[in-house]
Amino acid sequence: MKGMILAGGLGTRLRPMTLVTNKHLLPVYDMPMVYYPIKCLVNAGITEIMIVTGEENAGDFIKLLRDGKDLGLTRLEYAFQVGEGGIADALKLGKHFVGDDQVCVILGDNIIEHNIVDAVDDFRKQKEGAKILLKEVHDPERFGVVEFSRDGESVVNIIEKPKDPPSNMAVTGLYMYDSDVFGICETLKPSARGELEITDVNNEYLNRGNLTWAKLDGWWTDAGTIESLHRASNLIADTGANKVSNLV
Ligand code: G1P
Repeated sequence: MKGMILAGGLGTRLRPMTLVTNKHLLPVYDMPMVYYPIKCLVNAGITEIMIVTGEENAGDFIKLLRDGKDLGLTRLEYAFQVGEGGIADALKLGKHFVGDDQVCVILGDNIIEHNIVDAVDDFRKQKEGAKILLKEVHDPERFGVVEFSRDGESVVNIIEKPKDPPSNMAVTGLYMYDSDVFGICETLKPSARGELEITDVNNEYLNRGNLTWAKLDGWWTDAGTIESLHRASNLIADTGANKVSNLV
C-alpha cells in the first residue's frame, strides 16, 4: 500500500504564521506538523509516500524532509497542487504514483494518539473499495459526519459539515482507497465552497456497497485552527504520545 499526505492549502485560519510558512511546517509540540502523518504511515508499514503541497513555501518541504530516509521512508515523492481545488483534487495527483496499488491518504493536519496498524491490515485484506476511520466529537458540524442505519450497524450517508448533524461521529482525515479512487475523483463536481470534496468520494464508495469503517482508538485532532493547533501540542505534551524521541 502507498501513502499520500495532503499538505497544501493556504492555512488562512492560522494567519499570520502562514503568511511566511506552510501550515504543515509549523511546530506541534516538538515536531513540524507534517512529521505526525509520516510517522503514522511508517508505523503502519507504509514507507512509500507522496506529499502533495501547494503554492506557498513548497520548497521548504524538501529542505526539511530531504529523501525521507531519516524518518523511515523508503521512497518519498513530492507533487505540486496548483490552486485551492480541495482534498479530492489534491488526491488526483497520486494517480501514477499509486498505480494499481491501494493508498492510505492522511490530511497533513490530522494528528492521532495511537496508530492505524489494525485498520491498514484489515484494508490490505479487503482488497477492493474504501475504508474510513471515525471518531466521536462534540462539534460534528465542523466535519464530515456519518448517518447510521436505525440499528446503528451500517453507515447510510456521509454529510459534509451538516448544520443538523445526524450523529456525533466524524469522518477523520485518514482514508484508505483502492485505485478506483482516481477515476471517481475525475467525475466530481465542485461543491458550494468551490472544492472537490472527499465526502463525495466516500459517498460514491458507499453507493457501490464497498465502504467499510472502523473507530479510531485514542484521541484525534486536526491542527488547522489556533485552538486545535494549541490543543494538539497540549495533547502530545500531556499524554507523551508521538514524541520525536519515539520517532527514529
Ligand atoms: C476535511 C473533510 C472533512 C473531514 C475533515 C477532517 O474538512 O472535508 O470531511 O471530517 O477534513 O479533518 P476540512 O479540513 O476541509 O474543513
